[in-house]
Amino acid sequence: MSITIKTPEEIAKMRVAGRLAGEVLDYIGPFVKPGVTTGELDRLCHDYMVNVQGCVPAPLNYAPPGYAPYPKSICTSINHVVCHGVPGEKALKKGDIVNLDITTIKEGYHGDTSRMFLLGEPSILAKRLCKVTLECLWLGIAQVRPGARLGDIGHTVQHHAERNGFSVVKEFCGHGIGSHFHEEPQVLHYGKAGTGPVLEPGMIFTIEPMINAGKAAISELPDGWTIITRDRSLSAQWEHTILVTETGHEVLTLSAGAPPRPVFGA
Ligand code: MF3
Ligand code: CO
Ligand code: CO
Repeated sequence: MSITIKTPEEIAKMRVAGRLAGEVLDYIGPFVKPGVTTGELDRLCHDYMVNVQGCVPAPLNYAPPGYAPYPKSICTSINHVVCHGVPGEKALKKGDIVNLDITTIKEGYHGDTSRMFLLGEPSILAKRLCKVTLECLWLGIAQVRPGARLGDIGHTVQHHAERNGFSVVKEFCGHGIGSHFHEEPQVLHYGKAGTGPVLEPGMIFTIEPMINAGKAAISELPDGWTIITRDRSLSAQWEHTILVTETGHEVLTLSAGAPPRPVFGA
């Protein structure tokens, strides 16, 4: 397998799937409040995707090699959970930070996006971690243009995280996406500029940095899915699905409620 170049017809479908994934996050935002359980958020998102959008939630029963089928329709990763948190009975509380990760399938094509939600007034550290991680995502996106190298993205993300005193999770990465949830290439969030495959118009992949307030090391919980920081420090993640265009890039998972590209230095 190699990195596929999407046809104009495929790109049109990826635009729709991407926007719909963003709109699930817009929809669920008002429900992300102290007292709600992650299981309730999962049910609401599931019903919205299936009954309102006519989408299939890609995570439900997703089973990559070596994994048991994922049991829910979204991922909910609270505080020291890095990614793939499985929705359940746990209620959110004031001061939590939580990532909701949505992947839709519409007409056979995938859109994948995640955001952080802050409940009440999280700590100054938690707010700074969420802000810097969003900046990491957008600095990575800014690298995307024909002729750039995949390593330029990882280098930029890592540089910004580490110069803010944070660390980059190495075991999980962004990914090509299209008619499959996870395709080539792997989009590392660390590395060396000027290395890796050359970007070409028509490539579509996610950028989804996972940034820890403490050390980079992770552990997997016995459920076989949930990933936490080994030192239990806070972790944040933001994700968009990106198309390489003739002149640069297009973010396919933008929607009305998506936070805009940050203004750097603000
Ligand atoms: N949405 C995640 C990603 O960004 C993958 C979740 S896999 C699941 O790649 F099975 F946990 F949903
Ligand atoms: Co992804
Ligand atoms: Co995702």
